[in-house]
Amino acid sequence: MGTSLGIRVQAVNKSFGRGEARTAVLKQTTFSAETGRLTMLVGPSGCGKTTLLSIIAGTLHADDGEIEVLGQRLDQMKSNAVAKFRAKNLGFIFQQFNLIPTLTAAENVSVPLVIQGHPYRYAEKKARDALAWVDLADHANFRPAKMSGGQLQRVAIARALVHDPQVILCDEPTSSLDSENGQQVMELLRKAAAQRDRMVLVVTHDNRTYRFADRMAEMEDGRILRVLDTQEEIRMHHPLGE
Ligand SMILES: Nc1ncnc2c1ncn2[C@@H]1O[C@H](COP(=O)(O)OP(=O)(O)O)[C@@H](O)[C@H]1O
Ligand SMILES: [Mg+2]
Repeated sequence: MGTSLGIRVQAVNKSFGRGEARTAVLKQTTFSAETGRLTMLVGPSGCGKTTLLSIIAGTLHADDGEIEVLGQRLDQMKSNAVAKFRAKNLGFIFQQFNLIPTLTAAENVSVPLVIQGHPYRYAEKKARDALAWVDLADHANFRPAKMSGGQLQRVAIARALVHDPQVILCDEPTSSLDSENGQQVMELLRKAAAQRDRMVLVVTHDNRTYRFADRMAEMEDGRILRVLDTQEEIRMHHPLGE
């Protein structure tokens, strides 16, 4: 592949446990994703999707193999350098929205900028812009308890985008949403990839979202078995979304 703007995972192994209980979760796993596209990583529960995502995020160490994100070899970096890299370049969206209940939407969204040391006033302004981008400008002063699941996930998307990261990593972002809200979330993620020219990686086993993918990597038992490179190909292999 070789593009410095992508994700490149090469022959990664990862096992959990010790001795008799040791089990290989990733087995010579090779995977890639490019900027400007929404890449979906799909596969049955337990096949290793979250493990692979965590390794790409730099929050989990691979046993061996190469992990390159935006031209940087994460597997060769010191952990404080990885943490800095993550704060600057990566945004995260999870199944659970992970918002702080005592903070307003705008305050929640400003957190990544505040952590990076930006002045609060600047962070708050950027947070409001990000909330407008997910169509929640009018909810900036709401606390999570006053918002619906779909709105909360859009706040989480605003928080993931507020520092304008190049890479957005999403783990089952629609799993706790109904299909209408799930579609809204996927539309925003697709828009982030296409309009903002970002790399969006969505781990999912929610087949209602397959039509939003530009590219799909199918995982089973710790390996990528097949990569479908266009939405046409995805539709051909998953005609009813299954
Ligand atoms: N920290 C851990 N310790 C031990 N086993 C783990 C750990 N994390 C994941 N696993 C195991 O690795 C396998 C893959 O998990 P995971 O990557 O979460 O799968 P997926 O996200 O595809 O459902 C599962 O069998 C899971 O139990
Ligand atoms: Mg998972």
